[in-house]
Amino acid sequence: MARIVEAPKRGFERIGAHSHIKGLGLRDGKALRIADGLVGQVEAREAAGIVVSMVREGKMAGRGILLVGPPGTGKTAIAIAIAKELGKDTPFVALSGSEVYSAEMKKSEVLMQAMRKAIGVRIREYRKVYEGMVVDLDVQMTRHPYNPYQQVPKSAKITLKTRNEQKTLRTDETVAIELINKGVGIGDVIWIDAETGRVAKLGRCIEAPREEVYDIEAEEKVPLPQGPILKDKEFVHTVTLHDLDVMQARSSGGLFSLLFGGGETREISNEVRQRVDGLVREWVDEGRAEIIPGVLFIDDVHMLDIEAFSFLSRAMESELAPIIILATNRGLTRIRGTDIESPHGIPLDLLDRLLIIRTRPYTEDEIKEIIKIRAREEKVALSDEALEYLTKLGAMHSLRYAVQLLTPAFEVARKEGRDRVMVTDVERVKGLFVDVTQSVRYLKEYEEQFLK
Ligand SMILES: Nc1ncnc2c1ncn2[C@@H]1O[C@H](COP(=O)(O)OP(=O)(O)OP(=O)(O)O)[C@@H](O)[C@H]1O
Ligand SMILES: [Mg+2]
Repeated sequence: MARIVEAPKRGFERIGAHSHIKGLGLRDGKALRIADGLVGQVEAREAAGIVVSMVREGKMAGRGILLVGPPGTGKTAIAIAIAKELGKDTPFVALSGSEVYSAEMKKSEVLMQAMRKAIGVRIREYRKVYEGMVVDLDVQMTRHPYNPYQQVPKSAKITLKTRNEQKTLRTDETVAIELINKGVGIGDVIWIDAETGRVAKLGRCIEAPREEVYDIEAEEKVPLPQGPILKDKEFVHTVTLHDLDVMQARSSGGLFSLLFGGGETREISNEVRQRVDGLVREWVDEGRAEIIPGVLFIDDVHMLDIEAFSFLSRAMESELAPIIILATNRGLTRIRGTDIESPHGIPLDLLDRLLIIRTRPYTEDEIKEIIKIRAREEKVALSDEALEYLTKLGAMHSLRYAVQLLTPAFEVARKEGRDRVMVTDVERVKGLFVDVTQSVRYLKEYEEQFLK
C-alpha cells in the first residue's frame, strides 16, 4: 500500500481569498441569493450547477468550461465552488496561464503535472491519527525564510477533545500550515495523521462552544468523537496521481534520489507515469481504490500559447482527465505564438469543446454582502458606516480592492485601541494603499514627466 506523503504546499494565499466559499448555494438547481458563501451571480452559478450534474453523469468527457467576465467578478470563486460541490475530497488545482513558462520544465510537463495533481485516488487503509474536536488552537507565525515581509506558520499548539479524553499537542510547521490551509478553527472536528501531519476537517462539532456558531454556515455538523484521541483508524485517503508519480519516481531513482531527495520540480518520465497508472488500475480492480476526477483551473488562459492549447485539447480526450475549467477577462485577442486573433485568445478547435459561462459585474448590494462575508471570514468587526464606505469603494474601484482593505483597516483600528473598524480607519488605509488603476495612473504621470 502506498505511503501517503503530503505534496508540497504552495499558493495557500490564493486559496485563502476564497476560503468562505463552500459550494454553489443551489437548491433544486436554482441559486439562492446568498448561500454557501456565494452572493448573486445567479446565472453563472446555475450554469455551474448543470456542469456539476453533467460531471456526475459522466457527460463532461472531452469537454471543458470557460469562465468569461471582468476582473473580480467571481470566476475563480465559481471554479472553486464547482470543486466543492463535487465532493469534499475532490482535488482542485489552480494554475495561471503564465505559470506554464518555467525555466525548469517544459510547458507540456507543467500542464501534465497539473492534470495529474487534479486527479485523486481514494485509497482505503489503516492509519494512526489524532482525532477530536478543537478546543484550543494557537498557531505561531514566523518570518518567511526568504521573504521577510511575509509571515508563515512555524508551529502550532492544539488541544483536542473526545467524549473520553482531552489532549494538547505541539506540532511542527507542516501541521501548522495544514491547519491554516484547511481553515481549522475552534469547534471543528479534525484528525491529524500521526505520521505525515496531514490534517482533515470532518466538519463542525454539534457540541461546539456557543460563540463559535455562526448565523450562516455551510459546513457539515458532526458529533463529538468517542474514545481515545490517538487511535488506529481505518479510513479512506485521497492522494493524487501526481503524488503517486513522485513517490514512484523516488523509489525508482536509486541511490541518487535517496541521497539528494527532491524530484519535485524534476520532470517525471512517461515510464513512471505508465507504471503508476497500471498500479492504480490494479488497486481499482481489487476494490482497494477509486479514481476521483478533480478540477484543473487555468486562470488567465489567454497567456497560454498555441502549443499549450494543443496539449490541452489532446489531454481533454484522454481516459484519465480532470475537469478542465479555464478563465479569462480578455475579449478578442491574439493567440500567443501565432498572428491569429481569436475570441479570448483561444484557438477555435478548443473553443468548440468549451461550454462558456459568463460572470457579470456586481451591484452595490451584492458587493456589500460579499464584504460582510469576507469580514466575518477574516474576523474583522466593521461598524455599519465602515461597511457602507467599503461598499462604495468596492463599487467605485473594485471588489478586490475593498476586500483587501479589510485586514489593514483592522490593524489600524487595533493600533487605535479599538476592536471594530470605523470609517476613519478605512479612510486612513485608503490613503495608504491604492488600487490598481490608481497605481497605474500614478506611474503614467511620472512617465510623462520623464519623457518631457
Ligand atoms: N459571488 C460571490 N460571492 C462571494 N464572494 C465572491 C463572489 N464573487 C467574488 N467573490 C470574492 O471576491 C474576490 C474576487 O473574486 P475572484 O478572484 O473570484 O474574481 P475573478 O473573476 O477570478 O477575477 P480576475 O479576473 O481578476 O481573476 C474573491 O475573494 C472571491 O472569493
Ligand atoms: Mg481569478
